Amino acid sequence: MTIPFADLYAQYLSIKSEIDTAIETTIKNSAYIGGEVVKNFENAFADYIGIEHVIACANGTDSIEILLKAFGIKEGDEVIVPAISWISTSEAVSAVGATPVFVDIEKDFFTIDVNLIEQAITKKTKAIIPVHLYGHPADIPVIMKIASKNNLIVIEDCAQSHGAKINGQIVGTFGHASSFSFYPGKNLGAYGDAGCMATNDAAIAETVRMIANHGQKGKHNHLMEGRNSRLDGLHAAVLLAKLPHLEKWTEARIKNASSYHNLLQKSDIELPLIKDNYRHVFHLYVVRVADRKSIQKKLSSAGIETAIHYPTALPFLPCYAEKKNSHSDFPVAYLYQDKILSLPMFPEMSNEQIEYVSKSLLS
Ligand SMILES: Cc1ncc(COP(=O)(O)O)c(C=O)c1O
Repeated sequence: MTIPFADLYAQYLSIKSEIDTAIETTIKNSAYIGGEVVKNFENAFADYIGIEHVIACANGTDSIEILLKAFGIKEGDEVIVPAISWISTSEAVSAVGATPVFVDIEKDFFTIDVNLIEQAITKKTKAIIPVHLYGHPADIPVIMKIASKNNLIVIEDCAQSHGAKINGQIVGTFGHASSFSFYPGKNLGAYGDAGCMATNDAAIAETVRMIANHGQKGKHNHLMEGRNSRLDGLHAAVLLAKLPHLEKWTEARIKNASSYHNLLQKSDIELPLIKDNYRHVFHLYVVRVADRKSIQKKLSSAGIETAIHYPTALPFLPCYAEKKNSHSDFPVAYLYQDKILSLPMFPEMSNEQIEYVSKSLLS
């Protein structure tokens, strides 16, 4: 048996006629940039998360950067980010000229440790970007309290957490604004790069819409210099066709995670945990193992593809070497970067595939 890390083709086949029609219609209408289909997707996604404004853009990295710009974050400012994330979270901060300030993650939950945030706040701190990593929400209610006390903006990075919830409230609706990626492998993925920004703040919504489309408010009315970060019509059509299936796919991910849990719980592999009243949407199923290299090799020989998210925590990447970050400043991220292993996880996985991965892991 061979088991891919994710199987995007299986997902396409499961809704082939809907996708084919969506693509064909977009081509028939030559609706390649902007237009009805993008608007329709923005409205449908806004309804899904229950927010006033969704503004589509080219990808989930741009969306963080554009939001930071819209909130006026610039050179000389500091923005707090977690020590483990995909680099976009910190890269976007540097891209607007500000400085990312890393904070270690929570033991067991991989998200920013809220107990360490206040000590990282300085006079220069302007914002916090919590990441709902792997699909498990960060402790955003506490983060909002800290932000309010210290007058900080919160931009939620929801790239890995479409549909995740705390006490029934969906992530992306807690902060001042939120950022989503629709990269193909995400829980809701386009057929190329895509992303969006979401907010209940009408003024921020208007500003980010302008920035993402050359600073225009209406055609040729450039109120500022912006950039080209638009969602292509074809991607919007794919996303609009996929959105009605997202909940079913999310439930399938949760069920797969529960099967892994039942099969692996008696081993010494450290399994992902879920906080009470949190909905973890299992974008990734990340375990911790002592001897990762040999386990990955064993799984690879059994035809099982695995991945590491991420092999080096952000503070220790070469691009941040000048900060001279010490391992002892980020002990959890440092400990976990050598232990984390992402197992195959996708909604279309069969019980047989999960059993095979688990059996191979335990052999
Ligand atoms: C946590 C996180 N933030 C931001 C991004 C950036 O999204 P994109 O690849 O669409 O630019 C990603 C994508 O991998 C991500 O995982």
